[in-house]
Amino acid sequence: MRVLVTGGAGYVGSFVVRHLLERNHDVRVLDDLSTGRAEAVPDIAPDIVNIRHAQDVAAVVRSFAPEAIIHLAGLKSSAESVQRPDLYYDVNVTGTSALLRAAKRHGVERFVFSSSCAVYGSPQVCPVDEHAPTEPQSPYGETKLACERMLQWHARVTGMRWAALRYFNVAGAAADGSLGEFTGPHTVQLVPLAIKAARSGVPLKIYGGDYPTFDGTAVRDYLHVVDLAEAHVRLIEGLETPELSGVYNLGTGRPASVLEIVKMIEQVSGCPVPYHLAPRRNGDPAFSWADSEHARRTFDWVPQRKLDEIVRSAWLWHSSGRSGEA
Ligand SMILES: NC(=O)c1ccc[n+]([C@@H]2O[C@H](COP(=O)([O-])OP(=O)(O)OC[C@H]3O[C@@H](n4cnc5c(N)ncnc54)[C@H](O)[C@@H]3O)[C@@H](O)[C@H]2O)c1
Repeated sequence: MRVLVTGGAGYVGSFVVRHLLERNHDVRVLDDLSTGRAEAVPDIAPDIVNIRHAQDVAAVVRSFAPEAIIHLAGLKSSAESVQRPDLYYDVNVTGTSALLRAAKRHGVERFVFSSSCAVYGSPQVCPVDEHAPTEPQSPYGETKLACERMLQWHARVTGMRWAALRYFNVAGAAADGSLGEFTGPHTVQLVPLAIKAARSGVPLKIYGGDYPTFDGTAVRDYLHVVDLAEAHVRLIEGLETPELSGVYNLGTGRPASVLEIVKMIEQVSGCPVPYHLAPRRNGDPAFSWADSEHARRTFDWVPQRKLDEIVRSAWLWHSSGRSGEA
């Protein structure tokens, strides 16, 4: 299949591209390289295009004529989105709108969108299934929900098959340390930040030590990036069947606290992770982990990799000297 991957030079996107190539798909990458890196997709020269620029987006779609689009390009920090809601709406919503318009004009048949568990806000009940109320608590979560709805309306009109994947917390790297998350000032994820603390000795800031959890720190669902990439490819291939269209939660269903992650990094690396506790951040839930039963039942996706593989692979990658700051 010809598959256009927006944001394909980013963390999740580069794993999706790698897996698509392993499955012999014809892949093109659209990315403005704002956080992504060309070296993350060494076999492909990305089209360096801002997703907000409708004419440039349309030109890529016209020239490549993809049968499927996997749309990952966007901004992803809830905390930053509270400071810069205009930017988040512009990149995430306007960008998705430009892409959908081009998809419609050129008859793209399948579309997979990177959504987020941020659409649920603070879940009342865990594990969270797809029927849980959506109550985003940041502009970031709002933009993801707006894009999901735009996608559903668009699909009704065009007949395009679609999936919105609500990822929980993505982490980890290739098992051989050959690919992972490039870090820099934009890095917001716990695992690379905690590894950075272990390697640099500069304490990790843990937001909230007084949550009603067993150790007082926030509890999340960490999903290996390779398992996540496999879900995208499985869906793109399976969307032959219209019944696969829909919203899917993607997580492991195995919760872990911030301090558990810290301890596991210490075990794997043999280095202490210095940290200090800071006040909770507005909008950060105490608990969030996924019920991914719908994905298992519908397209037979079950994440294979455990937390220790996430931490081991991430440590290997960040120790390779190729990941940036951490
Ligand atoms: N990493 C996670 O834990 C997580 C969780 C839930 C959802 N997501 C979503 O998954 C997607 C990918 O996340 P990621 O972790 O790989 O982030 P990332 O920052 O590594 O990747 C995003 C990619 O989009 C590109 N991009 C950003 N703005 C762009 C623009 N205006 N035009 C074109 N390209 C642009 C970046 O250069 C980058 O390559 C995002 O949409 C994010 O919201 C990620």
